[in-house]
Amino acid sequence: MSRMEDGNIPKLYEAFSDSFDIGAAVNPRTIIQAGDLIAKHFNSLTAENEMKFVSVHPAEDTYTFEAADKIAAFARENNKKLRGHTLVWHNQTSDWLFQEADGSPVSREKLLDRLKSHIDTVVKRYKEDIYAWDVVNEVISDEGSGLLRPSKWLDIAGPEFIAKAFEFAHEADPKAQLFYNDYNESNPLKRDKIYQLVKNLLEQGVPVHGVGLQAHWSLYSPGLDEIRAAIEKYASLGLRLQLTELDISMFRHDDLRSDVVSPTDEMLELQERRYEAVFHLLSEYRNHIDAVTFWGAADDYTWLSDFPVRGRKNWPLLFNESHEPKGSFWRVIKQTSLS
Ligand code: GLA
Repeated sequence: MSRMEDGNIPKLYEAFSDSFDIGAAVNPRTIIQAGDLIAKHFNSLTAENEMKFVSVHPAEDTYTFEAADKIAAFARENNKKLRGHTLVWHNQTSDWLFQEADGSPVSREKLLDRLKSHIDTVVKRYKEDIYAWDVVNEVISDEGSGLLRPSKWLDIAGPEFIAKAFEFAHEADPKAQLFYNDYNESNPLKRDKIYQLVKNLLEQGVPVHGVGLQAHWSLYSPGLDEIRAAIEKYASLGLRLQLTELDISMFRHDDLRSDVVSPTDEMLELQERRYEAVFHLLSEYRNHIDAVTFWGAADDYTWLSDFPVRGRKNWPLLFNESHEPKGSFWRVIKQTSLS
């Protein structure tokens, strides 16, 4: 695409400046390979992996901030907001955290001390850069009647690790907005459990300020009515909402085909309609939603190209593999006054 043509493409985040921030998950490679695209279209960034426990704290006395620092520097240089992701999770968390040197489980007290020290160090380091943290990620179980998913956190510390994480984060940076973040957030069963968890936390006076709807969606699900009901339910808690990890997969969750090497016209058309409908709905709730963050910038790099089918390409974002706006981009722009 020529520079002239690029000049005619509106900046995505500017088009939504009356509604919500538009973010992208980035990593040290994409801020170089797609740096211009990211700087032009997004006004908020999230580190895809680089601020997770295992990335910044591989051993008790070792913190590794190089990659996270690169992302924070890119955000500063380009005047972008930055979200922190994530402080407590059952995945991508170093084993040492839960163990004594001999491999036996640590005590509850030691685990919570280590958590406090981790949160203090990480949150304070980025105090000037990060305005909101995903404090606790994905603790709700997807199925059945149990509220919390089994985890080492739960085994060792009991359910209070959740409230503690929010308290520690609030002490480390009283100005930061603190989020509970989860996927399948629009599924009615899980939605009601997330609502219950956050409601309980608020009733105990725990500093939770927002719910992050990850929004890893597909062409086919969740239904718009389910998304609407989830937004209304979370908003009824009086909290701020963000979509934190939006992407729209071309495949149903149980579609494990591996022979699709480029998106069909039908897929692209369905995705355009889906993005249009989703942003129409989100715009309706802009008084509750502060940011919509995509889990990536352009289709050349997306985690979905390896999940759930390793090596299968997916095309879930608004920009194609050459960083050009897709039809879906223009349908999203149509929901704004720039259309
Ligand atoms: C979850 C996590 C993200 C990321 C995605 C998959 O949604 O919150 O950090 O790992 O899974 O990439």
